Amino acid sequence: MKVDVLLGLQWGDEGKGKIVDVLTPAYDIIARFQGGPNAGHTLEFKGQKYVLRSIPSGIFQGDKINVIGNGVVIDPALFKEEVKSLQASGHTLTERLLISKKAHLILPTHRLLDAAYEQAKGNAKIGTTGKGIGPTYTDKIGRNGLRVGDILHNFEEKYQRAINRHKEILKQLKFEYDLDTLEKEWFEGLECLKQFQLVDSEHFVNKNMLEGKKILAEGAQGTMLDIDFGSYPFVTSSNTVSAGACTGLGIAPNKLGTVYGIFKAYCTRVGSGPFPTELFDDTADEMRNKGVEYGSVTGRPRRCGWIDLVALRYAIMINGVSKLIMMKSDVMDMFETIKVCVSYKIGETEENDFPFEITENLSPVYIEIPGWKTDMTKMQSEDEFPEEFNAYLSFLEAELAIDIHIVSVGPDRKQTIMRYNE
Ligand code: IMP
Ligand code: MG
Repeated sequence: MKVDVLLGLQWGDEGKGKIVDVLTPAYDIIARFQGGPNAGHTLEFKGQKYVLRSIPSGIFQGDKINVIGNGVVIDPALFKEEVKSLQASGHTLTERLLISKKAHLILPTHRLLDAAYEQAKGNAKIGTTGKGIGPTYTDKIGRNGLRVGDILHNFEEKYQRAINRHKEILKQLKFEYDLDTLEKEWFEGLECLKQFQLVDSEHFVNKNMLEGKKILAEGAQGTMLDIDFGSYPFVTSSNTVSAGACTGLGIAPNKLGTVYGIFKAYCTRVGSGPFPTELFDDTADEMRNKGVEYGSVTGRPRRCGWIDLVALRYAIMINGVSKLIMMKSDVMDMFETIKVCVSYKIGETEENDFPFEITENLSPVYIEIPGWKTDMTKMQSEDEFPEEFNAYLSFLEAELAIDIHIVSVGPDRKQTIMRYNE
């Protein structure tokens, strides 16, 4: 049995959490492969709203096993908060959540370093989520990191060595901080983390695969935030693309199955960095208000713009997407016409390939499509789709050369329409 992957094709916040939750009944195991608490996966059902950060979105379905893979970075303090809020709403976790011993730990000083580096960058700051993601992955690659498995032996000593090194860097950066409270919460979090099964998740995943169990690898952030293929340096510090599922879980490339690529009917981005189709007018405000486009981790208003097929085609290529999922179609319900960016104009040349960098002389080339001006939120099947919406779907499918298998028309689990007998 191969492992399926679900990941975002834009700048994150495509709605992966909701779709993992919808697809979970067909799987035995849900596994996160990269990122950390910079992610905020929002799920809504039975009138309740939940935000997941490090825990996979399969946690809401009773009998499913959830795995935090080696490619993920974990902050015990935030992990404890997440666990507490899930337990308060009646979800049992300890039996069903496994954590890789090889996942790296976000230390309290990593968060401080994140803030210090951002401050030092001034106007060139990335606009990170401030969760210590970059510094933790930097230590991993620099071979200075601490892993979850390290907490089992002589941890205090390893911790102090790492913290002292960080303190030196903070001193050089002239960054002022108060570590005591952060450390207290962190060590309380560590006690919480110890209650979970800390495992060699690559063995767990591969054994289960051999036994025929169905596994879904859940991505975080989005392709355009990938450390290699995103709009560098305005990216996150991990491989968000399908290849990341191989390194982040220990799955061989020939064991990847269906790659679900998820995108919104428009685009958003949080933090700094290029965004070719960004809008600054009332249309952006309408998208932000209707789509509730505010960061689920930081609360920051998200930048909004039209859908960008140049970036989407690029993301589909890098990930080897086999099935597309379109989210938040209902946010476009009110528009008279909908713009779709089909190529870029760079100077006098029309470009179809996503370029090395987005320069000042790049402008999106749009096609205008008539809007459907119908409330889609109550629709139950594609038979109810307005003619204009069907035309929009067909246009996208033709441009992207892949079928759109699932259409989401609202935040609730129930507002999900399967096409092609998904
Ligand atoms: P970091 O991952 O906190 O280092 O942030 C790097 C960039 O990625 C910033 O622009 C963040 O806003 C963005 N980012 C990180 N995680 C997410 C996410 O889950 N959704 C959307 N943007 C994200
Ligand atoms: Mg999010």
